[in-house]
Amino acid sequence: MAAITKKKLVELLNRDLSLEYTACIQYTQHQAVLKGAMYQSIQKELIIHAQEELAHAVIIADQIDYLGGVPTIDVVPPKISPDNVRMLEQDLAGENDAIKRYILRIKQAEELDLYHLAQQLRNILAVEQEHAMDLEQALGK
Ligand SMILES: [Fe+2]
Ligand SMILES: [Fe+2]
Repeated sequence: MAAITKKKLVELLNRDLSLEYTACIQYTQHQAVLKGAMYQSIQKELIIHAQEELAHAVIIADQIDYLGGVPTIDVVPPKISPDNVRMLEQDLAGENDAIKRYILRIKQAEELDLYHLAQQLRNILAVEQEHAMDLEQALGK
């Protein structure tokens, strides 16, 4: 595997940033569309998730700027559905993808001796893992 460069890492972080925007928008939409008393507690969780995804976007945008890149404003289109279970599955798929990306990104940051970035990514990863657990619980997994 070729060694990671700072330029390549900035590109990958910009992809992560796009997907944080996506997650924020998707949770905002899903919490509004979720229906039924059974889903009331997860609906409240989704509002918190939306706010945490925005906080992640801010952290990653600042890190990209610090690394000399330009933070993207591109958004990957969010996934929607009129069906409660389908929405939560879409959200869980997004979290599982984020977890995989951030595990790799932490290794890449450490390869470049960017320990502050690696620490920020670890904090984000821990929150994504909590998000996935909330969704798994709501889906009865
Ligand atoms: Fe996030
Ligand atoms: Fe998340």
